[in-house]
Amino acid sequence: MANTILVGAQWGDEGKGKIIDVLTQDADVVVRTQGGNNAGHTVFIGEKKYVLHLIPSGILRKEKACVIGNGVVIDPIGLVEEIKGMEKLGVKINRNLFISETAHLVFPYHRELDAQREVLKGKNKIGTTKRGIGPAYGDKAARTGLRMIDLINPERFERQLKLKIKENNEILKAFGAKPLSFAKVHTAYREAGDFLKKFVTNTVVYLHNATEQNKNILFEGAQGTFLDIDHGTYPFVTSSNTTAGGACTGSGIPPHRMDLVVGVMKAYTTRVGEGPLPTENNEISDLLHGMGREFGATTGRARRCGWFDSVATRHATMVNGIDELAVTNVDGLDTVDVVRVCVGYQIGSKRYDYIPNDIDVLTQCKPVYVDFPGWKHPTDKIKSWKDMPPRAKTYLKALADLTGAKLRIVSVGPAREQTIFL
Ligand code: GDP
Ligand code: IMO
Ligand code: MG
Repeated sequence: MANTILVGAQWGDEGKGKIIDVLTQDADVVVRTQGGNNAGHTVFIGEKKYVLHLIPSGILRKEKACVIGNGVVIDPIGLVEEIKGMEKLGVKINRNLFISETAHLVFPYHRELDAQREVLKGKNKIGTTKRGIGPAYGDKAARTGLRMIDLINPERFERQLKLKIKENNEILKAFGAKPLSFAKVHTAYREAGDFLKKFVTNTVVYLHNATEQNKNILFEGAQGTFLDIDHGTYPFVTSSNTTAGGACTGSGIPPHRMDLVVGVMKAYTTRVGEGPLPTENNEISDLLHGMGREFGATTGRARRCGWFDSVATRHATMVNGIDELAVTNVDGLDTVDVVRVCVGYQIGSKRYDYIPNDIDVLTQCKPVYVDFPGWKHPTDKIKSWKDMPPRAKTYLKALADLTGAKLRIVSVGPAREQTIFL
């Protein structure tokens, strides 16, 4: 399988967790390289549902190593809860999890500032997950963040945390928010630090040793291309590089060691939170929500839904270097009469075949659609490509052609078995 980067080709929630779980079969190591517990990756095994936020989705397969890389921001309390929650579901987490010493930490003041800034923005809010992700990456960039290596050094941690709480309480006061108690935060974080200590290591060295031994590494992207801090619909983005480059910087594995980029995309489009979504459409939103689908795995918010946007996914291929595609949730369109695909944007007489950078222009863009007849046939029990309805095949081939990469995986349900390899 070699070293594979898996990225979301849309606005997140493309079904990365499911595809990672499937691909982990042929991997030795699975690595998260960016984002934090804003991510929610769902994996179904039989009837059992697992939602991973910080732990790589490879954890559900025994004997695979999972790494939380340097590029991730970690809420230690959330991570301890997640590990304990997974153990309650019968997942053993011991020598199979490695946490980077240099991953930055998320603190309660980050979460509080995240929430306060959203309030201040009013109707221009981003619609963040309120997990403190932006403020934590902000501290990292400002070179004032605390890292995992600090958390497991009690004296240093106490000294640094005192200063951070003091500084942030001043900021919280300015927002009219309640100041934090150093003692409370310190006790809770020290407890979490003691619990996590055995997992903390130099993951760059660990991963390089793995590559020396020709192990197959799978890099699990979080969020999606258009939530990328550089390539997304700024400012309606997250605070990390969700595109393929983030896998290198967030792990310490250089670009020339990467062999393949897999882009995951839904057969339609969703977005949770604010910001432009050119193909947003009530009809398809109502259909999917009516089926009980498309509610956020982290916040439970209803996701906004729309038709497939090939202007966006073509851009995703360009910035990620996507070689192969996994198209998920094909079964979601099984009952649709006419399936639409956006092939361009239009404002008045001006046509765009790329995503305009000016957010005001993008917001005004009207999609130009090509219509495909629906296949009107359940696909969720189909096991092979040859058995797919011909109209579904035509649709999926068109998505791949328009996106500019090779169709490799088609997913027709949340379970492992509902996966078709081409
Ligand atoms: P991620 O963040 O990219 O891992 O995606 P999420 O887990 O947040 O959201 C994807 C949702 O789609 C989850 O509920 C998955 O169980 C579900 N899912 C993934 N692939 C398929 C599929 O092919 N069909 C159906 N019905 N559900 C799927
Ligand atoms: P996975 O990995 C979908 C969105 C939020 C908001 C914006 C910024 O499950 O695909 P943040 O809390 O990161 O500052 O929020 O990004 N967002 C996601 N949307 N899937 C995700 O992760 C997301 N992580 C963040 O809704 O619009
Ligand atoms: Mg998700």
